[in-house]
Amino acid sequence: MTRGILITTMLVYYKFFRRIFMKFFIDTANLEEIRKANSWGIIDGVTTNPSLVAKESGLSFEAMIKKICLIVNGPVSAEVVSLEAAGMVREAKKLAKLAKNVVVKVPLTPEGIKATAALKKLGIKTNVTLVFNAQQALLAAKAGATFISPFLGRIDDTGYDSSLVLEEILTIIDNYQFKSEVIAASIRSTNHIKIAALLGCHIATVPYAVLEQMFVHPKTDEGLKKFLADWEKAKK
Ligand code: E4P
Repeated sequence: MTRGILITTMLVYYKFFRRIFMKFFIDTANLEEIRKANSWGIIDGVTTNPSLVAKESGLSFEAMIKKICLIVNGPVSAEVVSLEAAGMVREAKKLAKLAKNVVVKVPLTPEGIKATAALKKLGIKTNVTLVFNAQQALLAAKAGATFISPFLGRIDDTGYDSSLVLEEILTIIDNYQFKSEVIAASIRSTNHIKIAALLGCHIATVPYAVLEQMFVHPKTDEGLKKFLADWEKAKK
C-alpha cells in the first residue's frame, strides 16, 4: 500500500470513528427531568447555565451539580459567573473538585478565552458558551475548548439561519481537526436536533420538553392502538 493510500485510509477511519456517535445532553438543572430522561438510556451528559439553575430551588448550586453528576455518568456543564479570567479559573478549580465529570462553562469573551486556555493547561475541561458565529467558535477551538456551544435558537432570533452557522463551525473544526466537540445548544424544536444530526454535529443539548417531543407521532399512537386491539381480538 502506498503512503498516500495509507494516509487516506487512516483519515477515513479517523473521521468514521470520531463521528460515529451523536451524543445527547439534557439542557436543564431539574433533577427530576434529568432522572427521567436518563432512565431512557439515551442521555450522555447535562448542561446547565445560571438561568436554568436559578429556576430550581432547595439545593445550593454546588449540591445540585454534585447530585447531577451522580445521576449522569457523562460530562456535566456548570457555568462560572466571574467576568475576569483569574476569577473564572478560581471558580473552575472549585467546580472541578465537585466531581470528575464536571465541565466548566465559560463565556465567549476575551477573558473567557484566556481562562479556557489556562484551564486547558490545568487539565480542566471547558464548554465555551454564548457562541453565535463561526469566528467566535474558531477562537474557542484555538484556546483548546473541550466543547463549543453555538446557540441555535438565539441565532435564529437574530434573523440569521442557525443551520448555516452550525455548518460553518463544523467545517472549520473538521478542516483543522480541532479536538473540540460542538454542542448544538439553545434547541427550541426537534427540527433543530434533526438539522444538527444531518450536519454531523457531535452533540445536541436538549430541553426535557423537546426530548419528549421527539417520541411523538400520531401514526405511532394510532398504530399501537390498532396492534393492541387486534391482539385482544385474536385472543378471544
Ligand atoms: C446550553 O448550554 C445553553 O445555556 C442553553 O441551551 C441556552 O438555551 P436558551 O437559549 O433556550 O436559554
